[in-house]
Amino acid sequence: MTKILFPEGFTWGAATAAYQIEGAYQEDGRGLSIWDTFSRIPGKVINADNGDVACDSYHRYPEDIALMKELGIKAYRFSMAWPRIFPQGTGEVNLKGLEYYHSFVDMLLENGIEPVCTLYHWDLPQALQDQGGWTNRSTIDAFNGYCGTVFREFQGKIKQWYTVNEPWCASFLSEYYGEHAPGNKDLQTALDVAHHLLVAHGRAVRTFRELGMKGQIGYAPNVTWMEPYSTRQEDIDACRRQTGWFLEWFMDPVFKGEYPAFLVEWFKKAGAELHIEDGDMELISEPIDILGINYYNGTVARHDAEGGLMQIRTLDMGYEHTDIGWPIYPQGFYTVLSRIHELYGDIPIYITENGACYNDEPVDGVVADQKRIDFIHKHLIQLERSIASGIPVKGYYSWSLMDNFEWAFGYTMRFGLIHVDYKTLARTKKDSFYWYQDTIQRNGIEI
Ligand code: NOJ
Repeated sequence: MTKILFPEGFTWGAATAAYQIEGAYQEDGRGLSIWDTFSRIPGKVINADNGDVACDSYHRYPEDIALMKELGIKAYRFSMAWPRIFPQGTGEVNLKGLEYYHSFVDMLLENGIEPVCTLYHWDLPQALQDQGGWTNRSTIDAFNGYCGTVFREFQGKIKQWYTVNEPWCASFLSEYYGEHAPGNKDLQTALDVAHHLLVAHGRAVRTFRELGMKGQIGYAPNVTWMEPYSTRQEDIDACRRQTGWFLEWFMDPVFKGEYPAFLVEWFKKAGAELHIEDGDMELISEPIDILGINYYNGTVARHDAEGGLMQIRTLDMGYEHTDIGWPIYPQGFYTVLSRIHELYGDIPIYITENGACYNDEPVDGVVADQKRIDFIHKHLIQLERSIASGIPVKGYYSWSLMDNFEWAFGYTMRFGLIHVDYKTLARTKKDSFYWYQDTIQRNGIEI
């Protein structure tokens, strides 16, 4: 047995997002979001599930915060629901929405848990979608208005901010594959939305600076790692495209002020072009303080001319899968972090999400989710390996604190350290909860 310790002061946390846990979708003046609409379209979400009630955290947050305290996390990454604060996306602020987040944030602080806020975790106000949503550049202004309000309001209370969560999902998954709200299936639309999300991010960062906010701001792209099946150039190129679609596409503009040429070319061949306006790249590349990284999976892949937009096929190498079907690929975590470090230097990194879907149910009050423990354990080894190699990773947020609404999968896929019974809304601590508690206490693991 070897002890692996994390640096002193390492931030151990857990994460969730508003639409996935809050419920109370019509309470205290909340407006509708695109997920309220999308989840009601037959066939979009498994079992026609929606976030009307979710985990009911809107009402049960004192219980959830007590659980966080018992878990021992130092920081909690949550998202604010834009439609609670601006029910129409813009215009009049809903004071009740602000009051709710004040009560919630105050209770976190009273319990010694650092609130870490994501501003956009996919619940765009439906009123803005009715005007074109993220395809319409006025949504960038609306987002900036919402961010400015929230910054001023929570100045001094919230010190870490992430603008946009997983811009790849909010653009390509939502507007090209149509699997997430609003459900468009058009490459040009997705490309425009991806660009506008980045501009919205940069604009919010600039506002943060202009307001003289104390604290740190960044965004949280999701990454994967595709390992070429062979040394054949076509396999290498296909993996470079697929990995780069998540990585360089969403990070080169922020860190270098330009899009990666090889992908610009590729999209052009597929019939889609970038629409960049004056000043966009300057906004996008406003310097950030922290980089959030969400990592869940990676795998081995090779070129396949029939393999969709990026002409790639992932291969079943016999790796185990989590219950959602994603291959378990911890070594990719280390490789992709190394690549990010090599490309963008010493930006402080927080792992804003990592975790596993396993659908274990309680038996006599016990949820024996050893597979989740193994998953986190393997990923933490790769994480410490990254830190030991000089990559400035400052914290880790487990996804998720509790089971919740897993978007198009509804309530069928469970990622929590805490089990939620969706009939009674009872919370049950899983074995992984106690394992993570112990890891936090020891600030390390054994391998
Ligand atoms: C990424 C997303 O940010 C989160 O909302 C989702 O539940 C997890 N990954 C798991 O898919």
